[in-house]
Amino acid sequence: MKRKPEDLYLDLMKKTLSFTLWPEPPIPIDTFNYRRPPLIRPFVSFILWVLRSGRLQLVKQAAFTTDEREEGKVWPGYADTMIGLRRLDNLQFCVETAIREGVKGDFIETGVWRGGACILMRAILAAYAIEDRTVYVADSFEGLPPPDLEKFPDDKRDKHHTRTLLAVSQNEVENNFRRFGLLDGQVVFLKGWFKDTLPNAPMEKLAVLRLDGDMYGSTMDALTNLYPKLSKGGFCIIDDYALKRCRKAVDDFRAKNNVRAEMKVVDWTGRYWRKE
Ligand SMILES: C[S@@+](CC[C@H](N)C(=O)[O-])C[C@H]1O[C@@H](n2cnc3c(N)ncnc32)[C@H](O)[C@@H]1O
Repeated sequence: MKRKPEDLYLDLMKKTLSFTLWPEPPIPIDTFNYRRPPLIRPFVSFILWVLRSGRLQLVKQAAFTTDEREEGKVWPGYADTMIGLRRLDNLQFCVETAIREGVKGDFIETGVWRGGACILMRAILAAYAIEDRTVYVADSFEGLPPPDLEKFPDDKRDKHHTRTLLAVSQNEVENNFRRFGLLDGQVVFLKGWFKDTLPNAPMEKLAVLRLDGDMYGSTMDALTNLYPKLSKGGFCIIDDYALKRCRKAVDDFRAKNNVRAEMKVVDWTGRYWRKE
C-alpha cells in the first residue's frame, strides 16, 4: 500500500521522538547521580567534573530492552518523550480525529518533560497545514512539586519531586522544538505550577487534553481547571493510569463530575475517553 507523505513524516517523528529508531546509546553516569546516597553524590560529581575538563565522559550501558523502550516503561536517556510508541500512536489518533471531525479547540499537555508529545502535536498541525490551532506546553520546567498534603492527602509519600531527571528547563524544551523546525507562534509555553498557571490558561476551548503529571494533585489540578474547556467530542488522555495516585484522581474526578464516557485502554498505563 502506498503511504501518504504526511503518514511517513509523522511515523518518522514518532520513532525519532521516542529514539526507538536507534539502539539506546550508553548513558552518562551523572544522569542518575540523584539515585546515589547523598554523601557519595558530590564525590561522583567531582570525578565527572575532572573528567569533563579533559573532554572525557563516564557512561553506563543502558539496561533497557527494546520492548521496554517501545512500550514507554523506562525513563530514557536520549528520547524527547518517555511515553513510548503506543501512546504516541494514540496521541496522533486523537489529534487527527479532532481535526478531521472539526472538534473545536487547541491542544495541551500538562506535564511535558522534554516536550516530545507536544512536538508531535505541533508536527501533526504542520503536516496538515493547520494554522488556526495552538499547542500549549504546560510544565514547571523544574520537575514535580512536593506533595501538598493539606489539599491532596492521597499524595502522601510521593517521591517524584526528588527525581531531578524529571526537571527539564523551558530553554531545553524550546531547543527540542527548534531542532525539528517546529518552534513558532503556534506553540505557547505555560510555565509554573499547574495550580497557578491552569486556572487562567489563555485558551477558550480544547480539543485534546493530555495529562501527564503523575501525582494526584497534578492530575486533579489539570482536570479541575481544564476539563470544563474540553469541547464535546474532545479527547481526554491519561498517561499515568497505572500510577495509583493518578488513577485515584481520575476516578474521583469522574465520579464527582458524573463523567460516564467509556474509558478506553491505550496500553499498560494509557487511557482516554471522549467528552460526551
Ligand atoms: C512524567 S513527566 C512527563 C512526560 C512527558 N509527557 C513525555 O512525553 O515524556 C512529568 C512532568 O510533569 C511536570 N509536572 C508534574 N506536576 C506538575 C505540576 N503540579 N506543575 C507543573 N509541572 C508539573 C514535571 O515537571 C514533568 O516534566
